[in-house]
Amino acid sequence: MASYLFRHGGEERRDFHADAAAALPVVSSGVRFRRGRRLVRAVPRRCRSGSASVLLLVSLLFLGYLSFYGRRLPAHASNESLASHTHYLSCQIDFLESVDHIIEPTDYMNVSQFSLEYIDDENSHERDIYKPRFGGHQTLKERENSFYARNETLHCGFIKGPKGFPTAGFDLNKKDQDYMHSCKVVVSSCIFGSSDYLRRPTRSKISALSKDQVCFVMFLDELTMSQLASEGTAPDERGNIGLWRIIIVRNLPYTDVRKAGKVPKFLSHRLFPSASYSIWIDSKMRLNADPLLILEYFLWRKRSEYAISIHYDRRCVWEEVLQNKRLNKYNHTAIDEQFMFYQSDGLVRFDDSDKNTPFRAVNVPEGSFIARAHTPMSNLFSCLWFNEVDRFTSRDQLSFGYTFLKFRRMNPEREFRLSMFQDCERRRVAKLFHHRGESPPVPRIL
Ligand SMILES: *[C@@H]1O[C@H](CO)[C@@H](O)[C@H](O)[C@H]1NC(C)=O
Ligand SMILES: *[C@@H]1O[C@H](CO)[C@@H](O)[C@H](O)[C@H]1NC(C)=O
Ligand SMILES: *[C@@H]1O[C@H](CO)[C@@H](O)[C@H](O)[C@H]1NC(C)=O
Ligand SMILES: *[C@@H]1O[C@H](CO)[C@@H](O)[C@H](O)[C@H]1NC(C)=O
Repeated sequence: MASYLFRHGGEERRDFHADAAAALPVVSSGVRFRRGRRLVRAVPRRCRSGSASVLLLVSLLFLGYLSFYGRRLPAHASNESLASHTHYLSCQIDFLESVDHIIEPTDYMNVSQFSLEYIDDENSHERDIYKPRFGGHQTLKERENSFYARNETLHCGFIKGPKGFPTAGFDLNKKDQDYMHSCKVVVSSCIFGSSDYLRRPTRSKISALSKDQVCFVMFLDELTMSQLASEGTAPDERGNIGLWRIIIVRNLPYTDVRKAGKVPKFLSHRLFPSASYSIWIDSKMRLNADPLLILEYFLWRKRSEYAISIHYDRRCVWEEVLQNKRLNKYNHTAIDEQFMFYQSDGLVRFDDSDKNTPFRAVNVPEGSFIARAHTPMSNLFSCLWFNEVDRFTSRDQLSFGYTFLKFRRMNPEREFRLSMFQDCERRRVAKLFHHRGESPPVPRIL
């Protein structure tokens, strides 16, 4: 098995690789595990064909690691068979003690500036086709050009049908839209297709300032709303269930509810156009930390504009493809088509025989928790990633690495401050539950 980076050595791919390597993101430095992670990262698990010496090295490093950190073992640490029997643990995060003196650093927003506009009506773009699609009918040429970080008008969902046609989906009430336009900092989530229970943020962890300043928005479809109502959970007179402001989405733009869930997940800058910051949390998780402290730690302190966690287990996109097929997560043909397309655009197996290739295992994310500043680079990246999901499969972990590396390759002069943090940090800020209808996880023993 192999990891996927843009390979060194393929003649015509040479610059592709060089750019990609130079542009890999900052990997977060959760102090607690720093040393361990370094050691481990030097020998990517399952990404190479293991020779005996590599195995020995892994074991030695792993033993050393264990003796340092004992049972506080982050799951991505090392041995596959061990990892699969380990509880994935959370780790300590040195959040500020309180939000009292929290301020956005003044030089934080000195990021690349350019302006993005979004196509909302394709008729004005002289297309003869007309079956309104939420994601539009982006051509491959438009797709290619959209990756350049510069003033541009691009597809980014929310395409309207012409007058007299049904909308292309994701319909919201005027009142809710007005509310959403007023938000400056947002925590959002969604449940479509009644796939999860509603998890309220842990109240005791949320400061009074955040309760006052932050919009907590839960998007539900009508099916989920009626299911909740039948279970006795209904919004109060302000439209809230606990801290969540409930917003009903009608006419979901995709029949695949997982794909529909990618709209609020990626496009918070479109749904909340006045917001400077947003935090996304999957509905399988309960928010367990203060949103302002989250922004301070994951964005401001690290000078990052987009923070997402590294996958707890998988490092290689290829491995992710196999896993998706093994678990039958998605139509195999569609996965293959997407992957062939990416390969034809330069995505190739990481060449582990090339000792000069810096290996950084960062191309599979765990996207259930994302903190973002709504900067131009961050917004553009979100649109690009969304467009991949719209064009191909809803399995966003398959497109993340490709989208990121292509984005970097095409904008070598623009900084994009992506930071990928440790899975144990994600577990610290959000408590994980199983989806509705899934059996509880079998207790695991170390
Ligand atoms: C992982 O653990 C198993 C069983 O303990 C062992 O056989 C295998 O060699 C280990 N693999 C590595 C990479 O250390
Ligand atoms: C932003 O400010 C920091 C610190 O002052 C500086 O290191 C960095 O180069 C600046 N970035 C841009 C894009 O101006
Ligand atoms: C981009 O748009 C901004 C206004 O939105 C303008 O000030 C700037 O000059 C434009 N840049 C280029 C290169 O056209
Ligand atoms: C799987 O995907 C392929 C290609 O996108 C499509 O032609 C086929 O109809 C799909 N199969 C199912 C069962 O949805």
